[in-house]
Amino acid sequence: MSEPRIAAVILAAGKGTRMKSRLHKVLHPIGGRAMLDHVLGSLAVLDPARQVVVVGAEREQVESALDGRAIIAVQEPQEGTGHAVAQAEGALQGFTGDILILYGDVPLISSDTLTRMVEARRTPGPDGKIPAIAVLGFRPRDAAAYGRLKVGADGWLDSIVEFKDATPEERRIELCNSGVMAVDGTLLFELLRAVTNDNAKGEYYLTDIVGIARARGHVTAVVETREDEVIGVNSRSELAEAEALFQRRMRAAAMDQGATLIAPETVYFCHDTKLGRDVVVEPHVVFGPGVEIGDDVIIHGFSHLEGARVAPGARVGPFARLRPGADLREGAKVGNFVEVKKSVLEEGAKVNHLTYIGDARVGARANVGAGTITCNYDGFNKAKTDIGAGAFIGSNSSLVAPVVIGDGAIVGAGSVVTRDVNADALAVVRADQREIAGWAAKFRARQQKKKG
Ligand code: UD1
Ligand code: MG
Repeated sequence: MSEPRIAAVILAAGKGTRMKSRLHKVLHPIGGRAMLDHVLGSLAVLDPARQVVVVGAEREQVESALDGRAIIAVQEPQEGTGHAVAQAEGALQGFTGDILILYGDVPLISSDTLTRMVEARRTPGPDGKIPAIAVLGFRPRDAAAYGRLKVGADGWLDSIVEFKDATPEERRIELCNSGVMAVDGTLLFELLRAVTNDNAKGEYYLTDIVGIARARGHVTAVVETREDEVIGVNSRSELAEAEALFQRRMRAAAMDQGATLIAPETVYFCHDTKLGRDVVVEPHVVFGPGVEIGDDVIIHGFSHLEGARVAPGARVGPFARLRPGADLREGAKVGNFVEVKKSVLEEGAKVNHLTYIGDARVGARANVGAGTITCNYDGFNKAKTDIGAGAFIGSNSSLVAPVVIGDGAIVGAGSVVTRDVNADALAVVRADQREIAGWAAKFRARQQKKKG
């Protein structure tokens, strides 16, 4: 028999007031990816049959960001976490597998932990009973106002008590509620119907379903995880903390997979950054979205890469900027103060200093001198520059696109090239050099005399 599928309910109806933002809280990015997408990404491993996102009145932003990837349920007004989950009932009609309840503002939860929760829901205890609910607990450094998990003598979870409703003795419990749960889908909504708002906050607490399930003869379990997986984001500074944790994870993963980071704490990754083996990343490098780095590449310090592919053995930086569509083939070199956009640098091509390459092809082993500019934009349209294999572009040249420099051609330094150059030809576009013998000495003498 195949395992029953899982469904997910992601709560995101909270106001997010402390973010002080026009952007919905769960759409704020961590590592370049919306918090909500981090949660959906971790869930993807479990191949959910349905996923429901519960949003408040301002649903439009979330709806358009989701673009059909989840069912939207609206909770208005917000009367507590239990009330929020209840809004997903319609969307989960007829679903009988496990329902995972997650928070859109608890973005760093891992697939492994979600898998452990579903497993816990299917694993009998020593008494042979299978838990109806598995709650994700953790032991924070500061238990603050988290709900407390009360575990009974039989090892099962007895109930969850919210901080505001807890006695001083209950407040001393160190095991806290992360809010994440896996619940038997045939029971969840029935249990929620028994929840009342007779408590310190006057809300319908999701946490109450644990005590209710116990009272009805079910058992409920706790799965523990580390605090750094279940931190919530309610403010910009908590967003920065989550970002820092995420970056630490990305750096560790990059190093585990065989990249050298000389000063890992100064390198910033995007959620989708891919590094090959024996890549060396020097200090102060930033990876934006869509970067793929092949084996044996060196990224020198202070480089910024986004939407770029760098093939094995290439060199980048220091102080290089690779923008979307930069495509460096094997052994290509991009040096300091060089910007590359939507351009291919073929095998062994070199662009080493102070240059802009946009909408171009730089042929294999071509050498682009310092200060070269591909003039790709006339204020209205973009045009292409094509530099042939083995061509040599002299320093401080402007290549006014559209223009083709043939294979093996040489462009003299300081040229403004507006017409195609044939293969193996020399193009020099500048005034001839004039020399007037003795002029400088005479000039100085004249000026000196004037000054007296
Ligand atoms: C909740 C838990 C608490 C736990 C803590 C972990 C309850 C009653 N308490 O408390 O045990 O330790 O989270 O952070 O569940 N939300 C809605 N609609 C609502 C209310 C909340 O969608 O009506 C969403 C929020 O957007 C948020 C999540 O649910 O993503 C948690 O809400 P929050 O108000 O932070 O719950 P806490 O009181 O912190
Ligand atoms: Mg909270």
